[in-house]
Amino acid sequence: MSETILLSGANGKTGRAILNKLVGLKQTVKVFIRDREQWPALKAMGASGFAVGDMHDADLVESAVMGCDKVIHVGPPMHADEKTMTENFIAAAKKHGVRHFIYYSVMHPLRREVRHHSLKLDTEEALIESGLAYTILQPIRYMQHLLPIWQKVLDEGVHAMPFNTEVHFSVVDLEDLAEATAIVAAEGGHEYATYELAGPQGLNQQDMAAIISEVVGRPVTAQAITLEQVAANARAKGFDEDRVEQMLVMNRHYDHCGFIGNPNVLSWILGRVPNSYQQFVERLWAEQASS
Ligand SMILES: NC(=O)c1ccc[n+]([C@@H]2O[C@H](COP(=O)([O-])OP(=O)(O)OC[C@H]3O[C@@H](n4cnc5c(N)ncnc54)[C@H](OP(=O)(O)O)[C@@H]3O)[C@@H](O)[C@H]2O)c1
Repeated sequence: MSETILLSGANGKTGRAILNKLVGLKQTVKVFIRDREQWPALKAMGASGFAVGDMHDADLVESAVMGCDKVIHVGPPMHADEKTMTENFIAAAKKHGVRHFIYYSVMHPLRREVRHHSLKLDTEEALIESGLAYTILQPIRYMQHLLPIWQKVLDEGVHAMPFNTEVHFSVVDLEDLAEATAIVAAEGGHEYATYELAGPQGLNQQDMAAIISEVVGRPVTAQAITLEQVAANARAKGFDEDRVEQMLVMNRHYDHCGFIGNPNVLSWILGRVPNSYQQFVERLWAEQASS
């Protein structure tokens, strides 16, 4: 009988990408979702079963975990309750004999100035001390942060992010992260490991604008947008004040320190060099052309 993997946060950007790769590896996936109406779309993607619940509800989390062999826990971004929600999955996994617990964290959780990094560090500690066989995945900033501004970049020729245009990021393709997560869950041998997962190049906003310009064949310039504008955009999207404040803390921090990592571990898991920013933009451009 095939093993069942419980995937939390399954309806989100990261969750859907991981589900897709797990299904590609013929894994049996039960999705943990917040709303029953999310199930048909995830079923169509190849999920085998579902549980509906809030990650805060320990009883619902326990009934979702029961009968599963492995858990991939992807919590919501920048959430003040990251640790308590994850502890619900950890407790249930311990109680029901889960063999492998994969926690989707962030690179450099020790950056204590940024709360959602720091909370993930506390959560990693709780997982390690739980005694479960764990793998901690520490992804860097996604290339996919381009998606919400892609059309504006094409229309106005401005690549605007809330950082100075010279600070560097080793951005990574979510497709690569999802593939690596699925491999770690499916192939075994990754227990008791913590993996930093970064893209292949350190790029600043000017480098990214130049790459986009080359791919789409029109001028694109990099621009730093103000934190006031970031806050206004986040409020317009309906983000609560706690998340808005944490975004500002993060953007101030990255503006100062950047976010640089090493691609070796991701290359090793994938068995190839991770996708470059140029490849990522070429894919977006090809999708645009075919739509
Ligand atoms: N973006 C990056 O560059 C980056 C880098 C490193 C790590 N990460 C980490 O990646 C993780 C996932 O991020 P994402 O952008 O994929 O998030 P996302 O798209 O917002 O997805 C989060 C999912 O969690 C669900 N959810 C939220 N609160 C819940 C609750 N209380 N109970 C049950 N489900 C709940 C959401 O449900 P609904 O679908 O109903 O809203 C959604 O499906 C985060 O932990 C983040 O820190 C992100």
